[in-house]
Amino acid sequence: MKIDGTHYRSLWWNSENHVLEIIDQRWLPHEFRVIPVATMQDFADAIYQMRVRGAPLIGATAAYGMALAMAEDASDANMDAAWTFLEKTRPTAINLRWALDRCRAALRPLPEADRAAAALTLAHEIADEDVEINRRIGENGLALIREIAARKPAGEPVRLLTHCNAGWLATVDWGTATSPMYHAQDAGIPLHVWVDETRPRNQGALTAWELGKHGVPHTYITDNAGGHLMQHGMVDMVITGTDRTTRRGDVCNKIGTYLKALAAHDNGVPFYVALPSPTIDWTVSDGVAEIPIEERDAQEVTHVQGLTDGGVLGTVQVAPTGTEGGNPAFDVTPNRLVTGLITERGVCDASEAGLSDLFPDFAKA
Ligand code: MRU
Repeated sequence: MKIDGTHYRSLWWNSENHVLEIIDQRWLPHEFRVIPVATMQDFADAIYQMRVRGAPLIGATAAYGMALAMAEDASDANMDAAWTFLEKTRPTAINLRWALDRCRAALRPLPEADRAAAALTLAHEIADEDVEINRRIGENGLALIREIAARKPAGEPVRLLTHCNAGWLATVDWGTATSPMYHAQDAGIPLHVWVDETRPRNQGALTAWELGKHGVPHTYITDNAGGHLMQHGMVDMVITGTDRTTRRGDVCNKIGTYLKALAAHDNGVPFYVALPSPTIDWTVSDGVAEIPIEERDAQEVTHVQGLTDGGVLGTVQVAPTGTEGGNPAFDVTPNRLVTGLITERGVCDASEAGLSDLFPDFAKA
């Protein structure tokens, strides 16, 4: 993604200082702040506090965390301790566990003396693979957008709606749900994106910021507006991301996604999910019953966070003092409400047959 003429990934390795650098997303869209992640505690805090966020980016960050752990102490015991320490930071997005499992499986057979270098190489590989996966999701999603554009009078924009930020910031580059948008924009297809605000953390503001940097026309809307827009024929297609998709195609994503899928279904609007293969959890089938849903601090709901007049991040209380707040961070959209899954290998039905046809090498019995 280009920010004011410079191409950035959302994290990168600083080889001079031997440290990971990230964009501190808590400050966006107000300030573009880059910070180092230098200790294991920094890694855990960055993920839990959502300085980095989004399933693929959490996974890549965790891989660099494992590389740091191996540089500090490459023993089996420390590898297991790092796995546990990082894995417990956020429970829903499967990419975190996927990356940690992949690192542990690759590093365990190596002599301790080789593990630090191998872990860093693997973290770079995971980051690079994420970029390529998302680029391909973009190409496959572009084909769907082209089909919609072809049915419209020339020059009329394809109207998309997205929820949360499944963008460049949520991945290493391109984004998942935004990648088809960026590809369509670059291909000259007129677009307009409805961007859900996504309370309580307002990840929609990140999406609006990204789309603005890429020149994609968009409108920032409240979370409750989507159903109304769909009823009035103002949405051609919904594209969201996913934090964990089950083997039968149930999609767990940011809280509120399910309501968008219901509204889309009721109004005959295609509802697509951009799905990188590391986000498939082949071990679970029924997403509602089996996926752990992160419950975050209630203060994220009773208060609203933003940049205060003094130029610092702060909160304003909106609920009455003492009100109990509830903050489930994700929900599950059953596969019957999902029109299709846009993966790096193509678009498939949200079903066990659809996924295992595309990924026979990953599908387990
Ligand atoms: O709580 P967050 O901001 O990490 O949640 C992010 C999402 O729900 C995204 O839609 C999902 O991780 C897909 S990111 C490509």
